[in-house]
Amino acid sequence: MSEFDKSGSISLTRHLIEEERAGHIGADLRLLIEVVARACKSISVSVGKGALGGVLGEAGSGNIQGEAQKKLDVIANDVLLEANAWGGHLAACASEEMDHCQPIPDVYPRGNYLLLFDPLDGSSNIDVNVSVGTIFSVLRCPEGVTHPDDSHFLQPGTTQVAAGYCIYGPSTMLVLSIGQGTHAFTLDREMGSFVLTTRGMTVPASTKEFAINMSNQRHWETPMQDYVRDLLAGETGPRGKNFNMRWIASMVADVHRILTRGGVFIYPWDKKDPSKAGKLRLMYEANPMSYLVEQAGGAATNGRTRILDLAPTQLHQRVPVFLGSRDEVAKATEYHLAHD
Ligand code: AHG
Ligand code: MN
Ligand code: MN
Ligand code: MN
Repeated sequence: MSEFDKSGSISLTRHLIEEERAGHIGADLRLLIEVVARACKSISVSVGKGALGGVLGEAGSGNIQGEAQKKLDVIANDVLLEANAWGGHLAACASEEMDHCQPIPDVYPRGNYLLLFDPLDGSSNIDVNVSVGTIFSVLRCPEGVTHPDDSHFLQPGTTQVAAGYCIYGPSTMLVLSIGQGTHAFTLDREMGSFVLTTRGMTVPASTKEFAINMSNQRHWETPMQDYVRDLLAGETGPRGKNFNMRWIASMVADVHRILTRGGVFIYPWDKKDPSKAGKLRLMYEANPMSYLVEQAGGAATNGRTRILDLAPTQLHQRVPVFLGSRDEVAKATEYHLAHD
């Protein structure tokens, strides 16, 4: 701490300026992240109003996923689109709630980045006042591409230059990585700024906690059945320990718990709709969350291979997700590889 550090608190802005001075990011990416964070503050205000803000319930529309959109899905999507149109050094955005990517309007300067977001993750929980969030992922726009289309977003997760989420819970927190570890910022509502509250989140290598929607059990493939059977057998079973289950059904909230105290989160392939390869979307759920978890010392596979190495083929494609404490992810992956 220098003699200037009277308050001792480090804002998101200062953290990003320090990362820019360290040569880890450029001014344009720094500003993009600040603009996304500001949009998340605006979404936090809307989410926080709940029934008083007229923001709950269905929007009366649907998205390409075949999901009925909640009003807040649409509100959050519009907030992010607007914010990044005018200030985000972007070339284009893509979203869970938009069929195709949206190039930045020609009236604005075109930036070098592509932004993907899940504007409101955990929508099914918004009307019952359970934590929800926004997930985002930043890619480079390929050289010389001035009007990107969906195909330019199809880059493996390893090419992300930044990823993060904002969780709208008892406190609003931004969790971010630019490839230099995963750090958590808590919104100081009086100042209106995110303040660094955890530098270097770390996922413990092993765990006794799993997050799986067990109601899909009859639809899983054999290795997933076997893995969970052994997990539930407790200390006298092959795993030799008891496991606790937690399932919030907001990926942001389940992943935040895992980044905070460890655990394994699994949304596997199931035969309910074989073409869907599970429920979670690669580009704006699995990839950003896998990036954050790996930067925190955890691991993420699709049951067989590292998620960040997967070569995307469609903007809204789905992928089985096994992420969290690296020893437990390895164990679950082992069951699948041994079965193949
Ligand atoms: P979204 O609300 O963005 O569509 O995502 C919901 C996802 C994810 O947040 C969560 O882990 C999962 O759906 C829950 O699925 P189930 O409702 O099948 O448990
Ligand atoms: Mn949805
Ligand atoms: Mn989601
Ligand atoms: Mn969503």
